[in-house]
Amino acid sequence: MADREETRCDLMMFGALGDLAQRKLFPALYQLERAGLLHADSRILAIARRTSGTEEVRELLQKKLEEHVKPAEFEAGVAEQFLRRVDYQCLDFTDPAGFSDLKEWRSSDPSNLVVYMATPPAMYGEIARNLHSNDCCDHNTRVVVEKPIGHDLASSKIINDELGEVYNENQLFRIDHYLGKETVQNLIALRFANNLFASQWDQNHISHVEISVAESVGIEGRWGYFDKAGQVRDMVQNHLLQLLCLIAMDPPSDLSADSIRNEKVKVLKALRRVTPDMMETHVVRGQYTAGTSVGKPVPGYLEEEGAARGSKTETFVALKAEIDNWRWSGVPFYIRTGKRLPEKLSQIIIHFKPAPHYIFDPDQKHLANNKLIIRLQPDEGMSLQILTKDQGLEKGMRLRQGPLELTFSETFETDRIPDAYERLLWEIMKGNQYLFVRRDEVEHAWQWVDQIIRNWDDSGQPPKRYAAGTWGPMASIAMITRDGRSWYEDA
Ligand code: BG6
Repeated sequence: MADREETRCDLMMFGALGDLAQRKLFPALYQLERAGLLHADSRILAIARRTSGTEEVRELLQKKLEEHVKPAEFEAGVAEQFLRRVDYQCLDFTDPAGFSDLKEWRSSDPSNLVVYMATPPAMYGEIARNLHSNDCCDHNTRVVVEKPIGHDLASSKIINDELGEVYNENQLFRIDHYLGKETVQNLIALRFANNLFASQWDQNHISHVEISVAESVGIEGRWGYFDKAGQVRDMVQNHLLQLLCLIAMDPPSDLSADSIRNEKVKVLKALRRVTPDMMETHVVRGQYTAGTSVGKPVPGYLEEEGAARGSKTETFVALKAEIDNWRWSGVPFYIRTGKRLPEKLSQIIIHFKPAPHYIFDPDQKHLANNKLIIRLQPDEGMSLQILTKDQGLEKGMRLRQGPLELTFSETFETDRIPDAYERLLWEIMKGNQYLFVRRDEVEHAWQWVDQIIRNWDDSGQPPKRYAAGTWGPMASIAMITRDGRSWYEDA
């Protein structure tokens, strides 16, 4: 555990009354309080535009905690202790003069400062400049920003430049909340602590990899934001590519932030560009129409609240990504993600190649490859599908595929898996950047997805339709079937 003094910090939360702060950030901070991880002297300044007093904001936060923390984990005494740390400052983020009040709040305290910008990215630069010109931060200040960092490479560079004018890269913590998920971190342990897998992790032994991040929800009142983004910008540019990097990267020499991030960048640089002639075979984009989700009828994307007619924004994408390096040459990574799919499920499946010479029943040859299924959420765990002999005299040498199963909650008797934001906030307080995204990662990821988006725009093709509650357009099945393979749930 980190030295407590080391984690002592003040936290300024810009956008403190917004959805992210209320739904995720304050509940995560409350959980850190509950776990005894917040330093006794750490303070929080909630900052937003709304005119309000500290007591009023504390009452509001109390209500939001009751709403967003599971009842069994809500302890009134802890909440009270936590809320005593919170002060409120009403501020127009564009008014430099107003920032002098922040300086005053800080002046008496020697702690490190964490600035969390839970605001639209367009405000990052202005907030950074105003903090700087009012002398509110120093070279120890840590600055946390959320995705999306821009909507393409050019706009992400502008945001990164603006932040870079005031802060060094080692002060910037760019969040990709998938990196805070327990099971995503576990990918590092799985790959680099188990020599069993380390020696099998390449094109000699793996035939292909599937990464699926499915959601049953639609766009939940976020049409305004989502329609400008789409599933590629919202999920692939960040979460899916981060998962791909963790699966594909070479072993880092240690666990330091730069060792890990250097290896991830090498993967992003090795991703084969998707040229216009590859779009037909490597990319499928879809948009949901009305259907049934978890047993209930739901509207299509174009009938959602606030929807504009004729939008071509994709709510589903399936991609065949190829990595041009020695380790992965010839191993496709099939990735797909979508809204209004049949269930919420994130999983990675490593398909190993079959044994070089097959001696069993020819009818069973399709069974003959091992699979490692890594369940990121829900039901976190992993399962290694291996082949054994089917039991019984009459079965002869019939094969059967069965799992070597590890369900984290059962095997390790875990009572709760911390939310991603708890871990990320804790790492920020410790000043550890390894779960955060470096500027060059963001930019290489944009470069790859920009090309795909440009190809779509140039083609003028609308997305393919799929009914809500299904696994996306038929073309996604056709994409993988053309290669003689199938998505795991269809196998
Ligand atoms: C966010 C996206 O980054 O991740 C959302 O903006 C998406 O559209 C969400 O729903 C999914 O996160 P999780 O943790 O629920 O898988």
